[in-house]
Amino acid sequence: MRNSEKVNIAVIGGTGFEKLFKSAKSLRVKTPYGTAPVLFIGTVDDRKVAFLPRHGLNHSVPPHRINYRANLHALHKLGVEQIMSTNAVGAINRDFQSGDVVVPHDLIDFTKTRPTTFYDKAPVTHIDMSQPYCPEIRKLLIQTARGKGLQVRDKAVLVCTEGPRYETPAEIEMFRRLGSDIVGMTGCPEAVLARELEMCYATICYVSNMAAGMQQRLSALEVSKVSKKILPVIQEVLIGTVKGLPLKRERDCPCSSALRDARFQ
Ligand code: HPA
Repeated sequence: MRNSEKVNIAVIGGTGFEKLFKSAKSLRVKTPYGTAPVLFIGTVDDRKVAFLPRHGLNHSVPPHRINYRANLHALHKLGVEQIMSTNAVGAINRDFQSGDVVVPHDLIDFTKTRPTTFYDKAPVTHIDMSQPYCPEIRKLLIQTARGKGLQVRDKAVLVCTEGPRYETPAEIEMFRRLGSDIVGMTGCPEAVLARELEMCYATICYVSNMAAGMQQRLSALEVSKVSKKILPVIQEVLIGTVKGLPLKRERDCPCSSALRDARFQ
């Protein structure tokens, strides 16, 4: 790959974000884990940005079948060092409301069947997840959103479930007792795999519903409707944040040196 083709920044979008850069160049990237779904390369100011709709263009891939390793590997292959993602989430914290914008600071992995690592073989590699999201990208997302007049919840624990079904009320009660504030199906292993490849990663979430047991019933249609309504706002925050990111990463964060000291020898 020529240097001019390199892309440093990526956005991974979820429900409702299939077409962030409609007119951008589309690309398929092959990886050892399979070919990533179609991704798009667009420009924001003088920054080249890759956009990856994680459920595919027609929202055809369910959360538990997303090839997270191919997605993250493909972005890494393009030269990406800085990733922002978005997730629709249910609110577990009773203070949260539908439509709230949340930038989580921590996560709990309750997925069951997904390959969760690039390091299945020697050298045995243990990534530090003391700060699971890049503190610098979080800060910028929060500042940008607040600069646009949004109220942002800047501290929250995201629990990731396997899906594709929604949770039961008892599960949500358990997650609440464990300290979770919001629940989604796609936050893991995305954040972990980004860290394993030393890419900075943070996510901006929006509450599409109250979690199971907190409202009468849950429906994918409701999630999709709220997503469509909030999409233009989140999109603006993402574009604003891209403009504030450096062209090339030069920062001292846990992500950029994640492999240092991650091995026994
Ligand atoms: N649970 C899991 N994932 C979700 C939810 C939910 O309530 N809402 C949006 N994504």
